[in-house]
Amino acid sequence: MSANEKRQAGEAAIRYVEDGAIVGVGTGSTVAFFIDALADLKDRIQGAVSSSEQSTAHLKRVGIPVLDLNATGRLSLYVDGADECDPHKRLIKGGGAALTREKIIAEASDKFVCIIDSGKQVPLLGKFPLPIEVIPMARSLIGREIVKRGGNPVWRDGVVTDNGNWVIDVHGWQITDPVGLENDLNQLPGIVTVGLFARRPADVVLVGDKVM
Ligand code: 5RP
Repeated sequence: MSANEKRQAGEAAIRYVEDGAIVGVGTGSTVAFFIDALADLKDRIQGAVSSSEQSTAHLKRVGIPVLDLNATGRLSLYVDGADECDPHKRLIKGGGAALTREKIIAEASDKFVCIIDSGKQVPLLGKFPLPIEVIPMARSLIGREIVKRGGNPVWRDGVVTDNGNWVIDVHGWQITDPVGLENDLNQLPGIVTVGLFARRPADVVLVGDKVM
């Protein structure tokens, strides 16, 4: 059911791809369906900017050129999944630990199309533990700051991000002010990226093949 909706969403996102585009590509099982569908159009696009080593490997495997964001300038389109999505298209992301590069590409893109299955839709963000990428030496410091704010930080032990950092998953937050929380956490030294995409939410959300 959910895998079917993921496939539908990945394939439906193809309609946003314009001829000659350089497409920003996210990470995860839903995006994998998008990459497979994008492979059919590979002769009509210039290439992709990838958000993870995992997606880079997949893109190369299907013959889509992977380009450097520093060389491409702004992108017209970014397609990525999410772990949670609220009615304002604000997201929790980072379940696959790719949040930093995902957030960079989202910021660099004119249109962010988010592809999800219906299980990701929530009225209020926070049931899915909020991923935060941290510089390793700041793990305990950030953990204490999260506790001060009422959260329960759990180190994703054994996971090293593509950037060489660690991930803390924060349980127990009902996120009533996503932009405020994102801004607050962004001030703490040692946090690389907060997995809240609220300052820059999605522009379009596809739930299966339906526009939300
Ligand atoms: C990776 C992400 C993914 O978009 C998110 O985890 C959703 O993954 P999936 O499509 O496999 O459910 O944020 O960092």
